[in-house]
Order: sequence, then structure tokens, then C-alpha cells
Amino acid sequence: MNYTEELIINAQKMVTKGKGILAADESNPTCTKRFEALGISSSPESRNEYRDLLFSTEGIEQYISGVIMFDETFRQSTTCDDEIPFTKYLQNLDILPGIKVDKGVKQLAGFNNEVVTEGLDSLRDRLQEYYSLGARFAKWRAVIKIDEGMPSNGSIMANAHSLARYAALCQESGLVPIVEPEVLMEGKHSIDRCYTVTAKTLGVVFEQLKTQNVNLKGMVLKPNMVISALACNDQADIDKVAKLTIKCLKENVPEEVPGIAFLSGGQSSDIATEHLNRMNQLSVELPWNLTFSYGRALQKDALNTWKGKNRKEAQKAFLDRANNNSLATWGKI
Ligand code: G3H
Repeated sequence: MNYTEELIINAQKMVTKGKGILAADESNPTCTKRFEALGISSSPESRNEYRDLLFSTEGIEQYISGVIMFDETFRQSTTCDDEIPFTKYLQNLDILPGIKVDKGVKQLAGFNNEVVTEGLDSLRDRLQEYYSLGARFAKWRAVIKIDEGMPSNGSIMANAHSLARYAALCQESGLVPIVEPEVLMEGKHSIDRCYTVTAKTLGVVFEQLKTQNVNLKGMVLKPNMVISALACNDQADIDKVAKLTIKCLKENVPEEVPGIAFLSGGQSSDIATEHLNRMNQLSVELPWNLTFSYGRALQKDALNTWKGKNRKEAQKAFLDRANNNSLATWGKI
């Protein structure tokens, strides 16, 4: 079956102006860590309840084009009324269901303290099943670390190659690949170093995507912003982050890509929104839409408010964040 047209339509839909992607695909261990930090016990039932709270927030379809889920959530259902499978529930709201398909990062053999993302084995079978269950896009996150002597060419190459193999397999099965090469914010490095590493990484990623015949019109890029490291003494301001990020994208992302949906990567919720807003104010003539695919920056307020009981208040906090980020895609904050 040839999915070309469907891939292009869905990729464009994911990055429609005014909307972005909710990353609710925390693995069970990550979700447990976040729950336990707030004294919430983590079980399939409590995770289901929390995801239900997010997805059934009234009005999110105005701001959210797609939701990335972890396998457990993807197979769960709404907790109220009719127990509608989440995939179906989201489709009814015209929100695309998505699935995280990577198997996480592992130590890269032959290198000190660098990682590569695993999950290519039997990926074709998993993708076909996810498509049949309603998924229309997928996510794979590659992690690039900055430190002395890092990243090595080896880690950039290994991660870029895996991203490209994953993206080609997704498109073969009718799923739009979110290609996520994340240069981490951890460390003390300057914004200029982040720029250099992000530029190099994106360059190699697109080289590999082309080599593997990935249709760039049927994918979404999910990069980090070009930003000072968390422990850098000299923190670049909003304007500098926005300008350097746009410059880096212009120089390294082909025009055919329909959209770029940033990760928040440890930025505060407010700052992640402000960065996106400033970029959209500056970039009237870019070939791609710039939007969000935030996890923490969309969910943090909601999770802190929920604490396992305050459902309505948490939904309000979530809706406010989604609304603000929607405005940021227009540069209207
Ligand atoms: O892969 C990372 C998530 O999808 C985005 O999470 O916005 O908290 O970095 P984040």
C-alpha cells in the first residue's frame, strides 16, 4: 500500500498553525518518578486516570493536533462513561493518536558515556500493529550529550542512522515519523556550543534521512532549541535563543519538511512558551511551521495541581498552558 498522500496530509495536520503536539509518552519508570516526587502512587490505574484527565480536558482540540502515547496508555481507555479507547476518543476530537516506538537509550559500545537509542528490531511488526489500532504517527528520541570530547562523530552517526531507519519503516507502515534528535541541556556549555552541535547533528540527520529515502514532506522534526546549558553561567536571553535557533534551522533543515515541533527539554513552562512565541514573531517567512511538542512544559502545572485528586483544577491548568502555547505559534503573546 502506498501511504504517501496520507503521510503528507497527516504531517501537515500535526503542525497546523495554532496547534501543537502533547507529548504524554513518558515511559512507566519516568511517569512513576514524576508521580512519586509528588506523593502520587504509580499504577496502571493511576496512570490511566492521569492521562484521562489530560485527554478529556474540554476544549483541547482547539490547541492540540496530536498526542504521543506510551504503549500502556495507547491500549487504555477513558475512565468515565463508556470506557472509549483513547485512540478512538482522540480521533473523535480530530486529534491524531501517536505512539512512542523507541526502546530508550543504551550505552553506545566503544564510547565513554555516550548513548544510542534502541528499538529497530521487529519495529516493522510493531508499527503495523499500531497503525491497525489507530496510530497515525510515531516518535523516536535520539540523545546527544555535550561534554568534553562529546559528542563524538560515532554517537552522532549511530543516532542519525537509527533515526533514518526508523523514519523509513514508519512511512512504509503509514505512520508519520517524528524525528527527534535531542541535544541535551545538561551541562555547563554555552549557547554557541549548543549551536555548533545542533547544526552538526541536524546536518547528519538529514543526510541519513535522504540516504534512506525518507519522504521529507511526510515527517515532522522535533529538535531542541539552541540554548545555554542549564548550568552555564551566561544564560542567553529569549531573543538570542530565538534568533540562533532560527538561524540553525534555516541552515540545516530542508524546505520540504512541513513543520518543526520543539521539545521543551527541561526549560521552565513559561520560558519554553516565550521562546516559541519570539521565534514565531521573528519568522514570518520560514518554509515550515514552528510549533510545540512539549511534555513537561505542557503538563507540569497540571500534574502539580492534580496530586491524584484535583481533577478539574488540573484540567484548567493544562488548558491554560495549551492555550498559551497555541498563541505562541502565532507569536501573539
Ligand atoms: O521526548 C521527549 C518528549 O516527547 C518531550 O518532553 O518537552 O519534557 O522535553 P519534554
